[in-house]
Parts: sequence; structure tokens; C-alpha cells
Amino acid sequence: MAETLLEIRNLHKSFEGVSVLKDVSLSIAQGEVVVIIGPSGCGKSTLLRCINGLEAVDSGEILLRGERISGQKKALHLVRQRIGMVFQSYDLFPHMDVMANLLLGPIKALGKSRREVAEEAERFLVRVGLQDKAHAMPGQLSGGQKQRVALVRAMLMHPEMLLLDEITAALDPEMVREVLNVVLDLARDGVTMAIVTHEMRFAEAVADRVVFLEGGDIVEQAPPEKFFHQPETERAQQFLDTFDYKKS
Ligand SMILES: Nc1ncnc2c1ncn2[C@@H]1O[C@H](COP(=O)(O)OP(=O)(O)OP(=O)(O)O)[C@@H](O)[C@H]1O
Ligand SMILES: [Mg+2]
Repeated sequence: MAETLLEIRNLHKSFEGVSVLKDVSLSIAQGEVVVIIGPSGCGKSTLLRCINGLEAVDSGEILLRGERISGQKKALHLVRQRIGMVFQSYDLFPHMDVMANLLLGPIKALGKSRREVAEEAERFLVRVGLQDKAHAMPGQLSGGQKQRVALVRAMLMHPEMLLLDEITAALDPEMVREVLNVVLDLARDGVTMAIVTHEMRFAEAVADRVVFLEGGDIVEQAPPEKFFHQPETERAQQFLDTFDYKKS
């Protein structure tokens, strides 16, 4: 068994008295890809935001390699260096070209040399098919290209794991595939990830394990072949039926 990288123990989170995550416990092993799915409002984004400290937890704890990372306000910047996150909306700095966006974090936060980071950034841009975009401004890129840059930017921080929250949700259909292919490539490379997505075929292809969240509870978790073809709970079955996901 691979080493446990992230451990969430009995996590509770509420907003204005409304319980959004109820006693969620989940471990993610080194190199594992966990896909979190569930209906809108079930707490998926909140769970990811608690993991990297964008939301404070009410109770329970989150450990990274056995080290407590929840409730550590002073060390938040360190947590965010160790856990990369990419969201649905592209958050590149609009006034800086792609390379400048990529160099910023590793130089400022990790103290790396410009040359070292630029070389690595160029290799990553080739890998995601954007070798000719190093000096483009974000406004000149398509949504799919911007998301690939955002993935490269996260990877250049050498995070211990990546959190991806519906990173293709705002994209035109023809751009979804190119972004998901980059994520599949990272998964094959052994990058540990927690991924929230509504792309069920991608979820089945990329996941080592699927976690089905509903109403702030983990209702079911299983390997993808089991979850998508023989879910155990009626709630998971109903959820899958709302997608036009053909059982085969
Ligand atoms: N900052 C906040 N203040 C108040 N309520 C919030 C806040 N953030 C989330 N919520 C509520 O918590 C619940 C879970 O929200 P969350 O964004 O985690 O859902 P989700 O599963 O990511 O949904 P979606 O699939 O639509 O993105 C929702 O009812 C939402 O309204
Ligand atoms: Mg969400």
C-alpha cells in the first residue's frame, strides 16, 4: 500500500448554522487520483477549499503526511505551496504574459532562479501543447489554453498534491478534451489529485477511486468500474441517471 498523503478526519463545516460537510473522513494515498462527484450544492467545492485552507474547518482535522494542516492560520501560505489548486475560472494575471505568470510563484514563493524555472516552464509548455504561447497575453488565449497554463503554473510549484475544481466547466466542449488530456497525463505521471468534475467519462478514465458526496456526507466510494456500472446505493444510481451516462 502506498503511503497516506492526505487524511481528513471527521470534518465538519457549516455556513450560517447550515451544515455543509457532516463528519467527512477520507484518506488519499500518495499517487492516488480521487474523483469527487455529487449534486450541485453537496459540498464538493467546500471540501476542496477546506483542504487547502481557503475555508476554516469547524471541527475535525486535516493532515498532510501526518502533519496537521487545518487550523494553522500562520502556516497557510505553506499549505498552499504544498497543495496546488486550479478552479473553474482562470485566474491568470491579465497584464502579464504566460511566462511571467508561470515564473511568479516559483521565484517569489520558492526562491528559485529565473533561469531554472523558465527552463522547466518551457518543458511543461511543450508537454501541454503550448510551446508557442510563452509570450502570449492571457487575453489572447482560449479558455482551454488558459486552463492548461493554470495547470502548468500549479505544477511548477511542485505541490505534493493538486486539487482541481471543475476546471473544464466554463469551457466550450471542443476545449474540454485538451484540458482533460493534460490531467490524464499528470495522473499517469503519478501526481496525487482530488478532482471535482461533472465529466463522467473522464472521471471513470482518470479515477483510482470515486467518492460520491451528497448533502455533505460521503454516501458511497468505490473504484470507478464499480461505481459507474454497479453502484451500491440508490442515491448514486439516481445521480448517475441524471447524466446521460450510458452503462456498458
Ligand atoms: N461562503 C459561503 N457562505 C455561505 N454558504 C456557502 C458558502 N460557500 C458555500 N456555501 C453553501 O454550501 C453548500 C455547498 O456549497 P459548495 O460550493 O461546496 O457545493 P458544490 O458541491 O461545490 O456545488 P456545485 O456542484 O454547484 O459547484 C451550498 O449550499 C452553498 O450555498
Ligand atoms: Mg462547486
